[in-house]
Amino acid sequence: MAAPAATDPIERRYGLTHRVDRWWVEPLLVGSGLGIFIIYSGISAMLGDRWAFETENGLYLSPFFEPLIHPGWLPDWFSPALLILWAPLGFRTTCYYYRRAYYRSYFLSPPACAVREPANSYAGESTLPLVIQNAHRWFMYVALLFIPILFTGAIKSYHLPGEGLGVGLGSIILTLNAFFLMMYTIGCHSLRHWVAGGLNQFSRTPLRRVRRQAWEVFTVANEHHRLWAWVSLVGVGVTDLYVHLVANGVITDPNTFTGPI
Ligand code: FES
Repeated sequence: MAAPAATDPIERRYGLTHRVDRWWVEPLLVGSGLGIFIIYSGISAMLGDRWAFETENGLYLSPFFEPLIHPGWLPDWFSPALLILWAPLGFRTTCYYYRRAYYRSYFLSPPACAVREPANSYAGESTLPLVIQNAHRWFMYVALLFIPILFTGAIKSYHLPGEGLGVGLGSIILTLNAFFLMMYTIGCHSLRHWVAGGLNQFSRTPLRRVRRQAWEVFTVANEHHRLWAWVSLVGVGVTDLYVHLVANGVITDPNTFTGPI
């Protein structure tokens, strides 16, 4: 259904639509969910080690701080999360799905299909500041590095130095978190296009078999990109909270280890 023509000032008013359904529910829920995550992750990252993010013997490390980098020259108040969070944050904020989500929920541009938006003109993402969204591909390259890093952290959580192999609820949560983030990342539209898009003749493309297989795998995740975007967002928040609660002694992690984790 097309938006009504905006020829006179009354018809140009925000929210004008012929839709009779509750079109405002989705942007409201999406905006609320994103807002809660932004506030929570901002507080968690800024607090740094004023709210322990790693368990006593380093078995569990919050994904917001993975990989842990804290050069000696940095002041104590500076959270190590700030050194790495720019990459996943840049990746998410320029993601095609999240753009749709926050353009609708926060910029109301448009708030929903066939609903009048406040602005009278639209230059797309071809001028500043939105042209910056084109950096998504570069963030994608960096985001790919985080998958093996997070899986390495998860695998390490099954081994307590001095004691050996074991498993805890935290190990399982860290593993699921790495898996969810992998599914979100490999479902990226830019990654799928980079691997096997924009080709004139696939049969003459170098590494065509590998690229074709990768494209097919990535397509499985890409078809549900919105779902993985939310599952991985909630997953990383829950994982961070769980590690904080265990590390600060608020809850006890059920595990097979006999010593402190
Ligand atoms: S399009 Fe969503 S992560 Fe690339």
